[in-house]
Amino acid sequence: SARVPMSYVARRGDPAAIGALARFLSDAYAEVASWSGRPIDSTIDIDTTDEDINRHSSAVLASELLLVAGASHGLDVACAALTKPGDVVVVETPTYFLAADVFADHGLRVVGVAGATCETSTDDASFDVDALERRLENGLRPRLVYVVPTHSNPRSGTMSLEKRKRLLRLARTHDFYVVADEVYHLLSWGKGEDAPPPRFREVEREMYLEEGREEATGTTSDEMDDPYFSSPAEDENKNANANAAVEYSVDSRVVSLGSFSKILAPGMRLGWIEAGHGLIRTLADRGYLSSGGSVSPLAASVATAVINAGDQDSWLRFLRRRYASASALLADAVGRESASTGWRMRGVPSGGYFAWIELPEKCDVDAFALEAKKEKVATLQGGRCVAGEADPDAAAACARCVRVCFAYLDEDDIEEGVRRLARAVRRSVKECM
Ligand SMILES: Cc1ncc(COP(=O)(O)O)c(C=O)c1O
Repeated sequence: SARVPMSYVARRGDPAAIGALARFLSDAYAEVASWSGRPIDSTIDIDTTDEDINRHSSAVLASELLLVAGASHGLDVACAALTKPGDVVVVETPTYFLAADVFADHGLRVVGVAGATCETSTDDASFDVDALERRLENGLRPRLVYVVPTHSNPRSGTMSLEKRKRLLRLARTHDFYVVADEVYHLLSWGKGEDAPPPRFREVEREMYLEEGREEATGTTSDEMDDPYFSSPAEDENKNANANAAVEYSVDSRVVSLGSFSKILAPGMRLGWIEAGHGLIRTLADRGYLSSGGSVSPLAASVATAVINAGDQDSWLRFLRRRYASASALLADAVGRESASTGWRMRGVPSGGYFAWIELPEKCDVDAFALEAKKEKVATLQGGRCVAGEADPDAAAACARCVRVCFAYLDEDDIEEGVRRLARAVRRSVKECM
């Protein structure tokens, strides 16, 4: 049964909810990491203090979490706290198309960076860090770099560990923040080489450890100025309290966005930001949080009950099994129509919701969009995923692609949907020949 908060709660969220989320995420991230064969440390328990936990880079610390009303709200919070109008935000080409609306709300200048990354034929369908580096050398000064690094929307690409580290080094040198929208990380099912690298905050911590830098330096409570932190709930969670009492001085560059939308229900409007301790305090320093306490305490109490009953774990495992089989079926069905259409899809997705299909050169993509509509199949045209000032070649490559989602349909509908899309392609190719 859920303990429903009837009063204002602490600014970053009810400590009971934050503590439950930290434990759930630590276990779930560790499970995904275990499929890669990387050594993981599972010695965390709720009595471990931040300073101990800090040695285990995979654990999610309660003190590094801020509850938000979904990843989109998390992005809005990051923009509000870290940017001013006119600042540059770099995005991938293609990117999650609705993120651009949030950047527009904050008056940001959106610059798309890609290289050969739209090529479905290359192995690496993720952000082109070389292209970003060239732009930085030529004077681009972003405040944020927004990436969907794991099983991306729309391309289903995953950024390698090496690229993650390079991006973080660039962030330190060129003074920007990496906003890592990691909503699909836990929806991974790939094993071995197909398992994703660690989430961005873990990569950042690993880099500190490799460099021999200590993150924990003091004992100031981040909740001292929070008028709602002395709620009775705080005593219920030792972990949240222990974690609240450590100050970090190291320059943390990662703002990681997560959400219950993909792993429980979008209608919850509940998500979280994970960031270094100092940065999370900056992000939580919003007027509406000082005035009203955390957003969505009711949704958070429901999520906490779901987590504590073990249902979030079992639901996540169910979703992974279901999406793994749906994505394999989709890849098969697309493969069967390759010869008749000339379209291409890069492998079988190892996580997330989407597949990215490159249409043949001779296909008129606008005609295809109309034909797909007549066939009553919803796709997202790649051109919609190009935001801001994008490289023309990358934008043109995206326009030749469509995003399809395998997460909503039953298996029969997926097969029928692919047959219909193939018909739509054949008709659009004919028209332009
Ligand atoms: C990459 C990405 N970020 C954010 C969202 C939205 O998340 P939320 O419902 O938590 O705002 C989506 C949903 O499609 C998404 O694909």
